Amino acid sequence: MDFKRSDFPEGFLWGAATSSYQIEGHSFGGAGPTHWDSFAATPGNVVRAEHGDLACDHYHRFEEDLDLIKAAGFDAYRFSTSWARVLPDGRGTANAEGLDFYDRLTDAMLERGLKPCATLYHWELPQPLADLGGWRNRDIAGWFGDFAEVIMGRIGDRMHSVAPINEPWCVAWLSHFMGHHAPGMRDIRAAARAMHHVLLAHGTAIERMRGLGMSNLGAVCNFEWADPADESDAAREAALDYDAIYNRFFLGGMFHKAYPERVLKGLEPHLPAGWQDDFDTIAAPVDWVGLNYYTRKLIGPTGGPWPGYEEVDGPLPKTQMGWEVYPDGLYNFLTRTAANYTSDLPLYMTENGMASPAPSDDQDRIAYLNAHVAKARAAMAEGVPLKGYFIWSLLDNYEWALGYEKRFGLVHVDFESLQRTPKASYEALKLALSQ
Ligand code: FCB
Repeated sequence: MDFKRSDFPEGFLWGAATSSYQIEGHSFGGAGPTHWDSFAATPGNVVRAEHGDLACDHYHRFEEDLDLIKAAGFDAYRFSTSWARVLPDGRGTANAEGLDFYDRLTDAMLERGLKPCATLYHWELPQPLADLGGWRNRDIAGWFGDFAEVIMGRIGDRMHSVAPINEPWCVAWLSHFMGHHAPGMRDIRAAARAMHHVLLAHGTAIERMRGLGMSNLGAVCNFEWADPADESDAAREAALDYDAIYNRFFLGGMFHKAYPERVLKGLEPHLPAGWQDDFDTIAAPVDWVGLNYYTRKLIGPTGGPWPGYEEVDGPLPKTQMGWEVYPDGLYNFLTRTAANYTSDLPLYMTENGMASPAPSDDQDRIAYLNAHVAKARAAMAEGVPLKGYFIWSLLDNYEWALGYEKRFGLVHVDFESLQRTPKASYEALKLALSQ
């Protein structure tokens, strides 16, 4: 790598990130059905209709996986807790096996000196709650708060940090407006409600965890830089609308107690009654903000109904996901988040990484990480209080609608034998973190 641990301030956290449904193997340990299982079982939603039943079998192999994290020299592990594993019906009786699993996982991290950094929800909503309207139903805030209390009542005493929800934009917009993720809806009213309720659920969970006496609670959002596809005013407006929906809505709610005007223009008629009264909960104080960053989009106008934009193919080199490599976006979001929203609150890169096909010499992943870490350093040099960097991902895993083909891992997984093999990027990071 072009960087080493000693280039960063003392205490800067290096971590690896994963999520429950993407690695655990959802069929094990008494987990209940989720909306991802239904989504994946519907032809056309997921490549080859692949699902998370087995995934990386992390449920049985977590000791080996934590050994890999430790051996790379990481300080922290960002994992998520499956709501349906803990509460198979989403509410009510907890699954003792599920709670035991996260308890063992936590202790296994601590035994290795790894800091447990939990995310409560990384997208596998229990099906019984989806049947009640899921993120469209305001009651989800209370259901989620209850889940937060159950799981953190068990492991919260040993967490280094906790964030309620991974990537509100994906939970709400990608899944209810674009239809690309579960529950696969394409409906502006559903999207508006999900956008608001995901924030209400976030704030409710923060309040409940404070009630348990917990600290170091944060929020994790994803960001995509939006550039106009050409020089026209229409393209400029389109990119600003994309930016407002994707990058400004959630931080706006959490830090300004307001949604961007550009978003209200389309969503206000569809927001639930009384939405303006929820900002005290939504803006419950957090201790840090995590940024997930991968790419940028070129955006052009469609001339069609709001939001009236479309993604246009860009000219930059692309990853296996077809995502342009645009490290400047990481710098832009770190500086903008601190300047406009979070001031001196600690920031973390909670996800960054790339997919590349196997077999590969992994030089592209090394170059990607080098380029993005350099931008993080540039932002830090300007005073942005970045306190850590988590790589997505430890393992090749279930990449949602794209199945098992897109390989984000620092460690290769053979999905037949489930054998783990560190890639060149893993070895390079290991060296960098030892220096
Ligand atoms: C993020 C998700 C993560 C993974 C990466 C590639 O949006 O949080 O689960 O899919 O993208």
